[in-house]
Amino acid sequence: MVGATTMEQGSAGVGQGKYDDLLKEAREFALKASNDASYDGSHDWHHVMRVAKNAKDIAEHENFENGHRSRTLVQVIALLHDVADSKYKGYEARARELLDKLGEWTVGGLMTEEDKDLINFVISRMSFKDESKGSCAGLELPTEFKVVQDADRLDAIGAVGIARCFMFGGSRGSEIIRWEDPSRGGGEVRGNGKAIPYKTCVGHFYEKLLKLKDMMKTRRGAELAGERHEVMVKFLATIESECDFYSS
Ligand SMILES: [Fe+2]
Repeated sequence: MVGATTMEQGSAGVGQGKYDDLLKEAREFALKASNDASYDGSHDWHHVMRVAKNAKDIAEHENFENGHRSRTLVQVIALLHDVADSKYKGYEARARELLDKLGEWTVGGLMTEEDKDLINFVISRMSFKDESKGSCAGLELPTEFKVVQDADRLDAIGAVGIARCFMFGGSRGSEIIRWEDPSRGGGEVRGNGKAIPYKTCVGHFYEKLLKLKDMMKTRRGAELAGERHEVMVKFLATIESECDFYSS
């Protein structure tokens, strides 16, 4: 369980004046949800804090009409983005709690209905799965959406992305790697003629993580993703070589 001290220390440094209350309430709600849900280490409170930090960095490179307000909203969305992650048990109840929170949330009139719609829109459509299903196809995406989505994706790649992939895979009983006959399908064929199934941890890089670099939607996000992508490419070459008992 993460305590309030850590929460305050990890606030990513955003929030001044009248926006402080908004951020404070969002942090308290998100931290409680994170602790109650007992997420594994891949989606714990530290993931939320890293996404908030990434989002702050990316947002600073974007031009917003109302800069401070939009950057605060970006932080609020980053804090709330995994509250109702459907990969984890009890997400329906947490989604209802989040909707209730948004319904009653006014923060002294600061939170508008438009803000609430934006928060809900981003959280409900920003996942890789949503995008793969075309849930955003043809839609004009707000900058806040692009910033938080890129921030979340940055934490899925690079060194921390590698750690999170194996952390999540371990929590679900996935294998590190397996070599299969390519005729079985559902995997990535490698240089030794064997396929690595997508459902293994290493296979997940081919199924999703290596694709994220080209899916970034902000210039800053793409820049940071390029560096992290290279870390994964080197890691995969090494682990596959170390695990390849088919080649001499
Ligand atoms: Fe996330």
